[in-house]
Amino acid sequence: MANEVKKVRLAIVGCGGIAHLHMQGYEQIKRAEPEKFEIVAVCDPIDERAQEFANWAEQFQGKRPQVYTDHEVLLKEETDNLDAVDINTPHHLHHLIGIACLEAGLHVMIEKPIGITVKATKAIMEAAKRAGKFAATAENIRRGVPQRTAWWLFNENKLIGEITLFYAIQVGYLPPTQPGQEPEWHWRVNKFFSGGGLVLDSGAHFCDTIRYLFGEVKQVHAVVKRIVPRPFRKNDELVIDDREDTWMAVLEFESGLMGLWSYTNTAPAHEFTQVVYYATEGALVDIGDAFHGPRGDALVKHVNGQVRSLNELSKDFRAAIGEEKWQKLFPHDFTNGFTLECYDFLDAVQNNRPPEITVEDGLRAKAISFAIYEASATGQTVKVQDVIDGNVEVYQRPINEHWGLQ
Ligand SMILES: NC(=O)c1ccc[n+]([C@@H]2O[C@H](COP(=O)([O-])OP(=O)(O)OC[C@H]3O[C@@H](n4cnc5c(N)ncnc54)[C@H](O)[C@@H]3O)[C@@H](O)[C@H]2O)c1
Repeated sequence: MANEVKKVRLAIVGCGGIAHLHMQGYEQIKRAEPEKFEIVAVCDPIDERAQEFANWAEQFQGKRPQVYTDHEVLLKEETDNLDAVDINTPHHLHHLIGIACLEAGLHVMIEKPIGITVKATKAIMEAAKRAGKFAATAENIRRGVPQRTAWWLFNENKLIGEITLFYAIQVGYLPPTQPGQEPEWHWRVNKFFSGGGLVLDSGAHFCDTIRYLFGEVKQVHAVVKRIVPRPFRKNDELVIDDREDTWMAVLEFESGLMGLWSYTNTAPAHEFTQVVYYATEGALVDIGDAFHGPRGDALVKHVNGQVRSLNELSKDFRAAIGEEKWQKLFPHDFTNGFTLECYDFLDAVQNNRPPEITVEDGLRAKAISFAIYEASATGQTVKVQDVIDGNVEVYQRPINEHWGLQ
């Protein structure tokens, strides 16, 4: 009996874009460990999306989940049949739905950036404490083999010495929207629904990764702007996208490390991306973008001329940590970050342990993004801790007021 662990009874709320990658993950987990979980209910206000997920789950688990179009009805009817909820909604709903699930006594995993503002995230954190349940941040990027290898490179192996500085710069060009060809409005375009643009959205991944690799960011200096106005069509009206298209941010870490993180999509005729992490005896040169790396084909270049990719180095990493630790990071040899985040969530619920990336981690990562917005809004250097403590809240205040977040 002691070894008998209960199947996790799961609901999925929000069956849009990213939830498809969670579902692929659950399908993969089901094949490897059929007794790990069962999807009991799915929910999306767009009924066809929820139905599609119910069909999909039925096909890999043999039993069709209940379908809901309202999370309140789901909680009313299914709470006793559930242990946990995986929430994949637009940002403004993270805290509203997350807190309702926690108050119903269910563990939650909420997609990054876990809350629309710092206050929203703290409200989720407090609800989790009150309920004695956990809130996990769904974060897939740091779980990849290259990112885990980069952690080992900088924190244990030290092949290129100690990290000193980094440049993560992505300069691209998105041609201005032509009249009559405006894209359809969606929730990401308005910061009352999204909280911000790429500093916060894909930026949540970069901020989590740099914290994971290099520790806490102490303070930031930054300028954030929209340079090219971009209209979207909402019904018959044209609405301006109020998110940033450009930023330059200097990050100073508690350790003394400094980094420049900059992005634009307004630079015609000469686009470039340079993401390079410098250490005392070499550099890690990423080939990817300024959000989702470092990638497996990133090159570890030693000042003595030796060059190896992170993919090559991952074999040394595996040998160095041994099979037991490797299997903890990559159970069933899963390497897809979404599968791994879903597995960590289920396993944490099943074994009554904290997930790897908690709501507190999500808060600390997003506080870097908000420190960048706040530094630009105030024209001051901003300490990340002051953003967490609510001492600086110029950019976020209207969003907090809009959602009644005190
Ligand atoms: N990890 C990643 O790489 C990654 C990538 C994209 C998005 N995301 C995150 O995933 C989340 C969702 O983004 P997306 O791109 O999938 O958005 P999306 O718009 O494609 O999907 C959101 C879904 O939520 C549904 N929804 C809206 N209101 C709801 C409600 N009250 N109850 C239940 N469902 C509701 C929508 O109908 C839609 O199907 C965001 O937090 C986003 O930042 C993560």
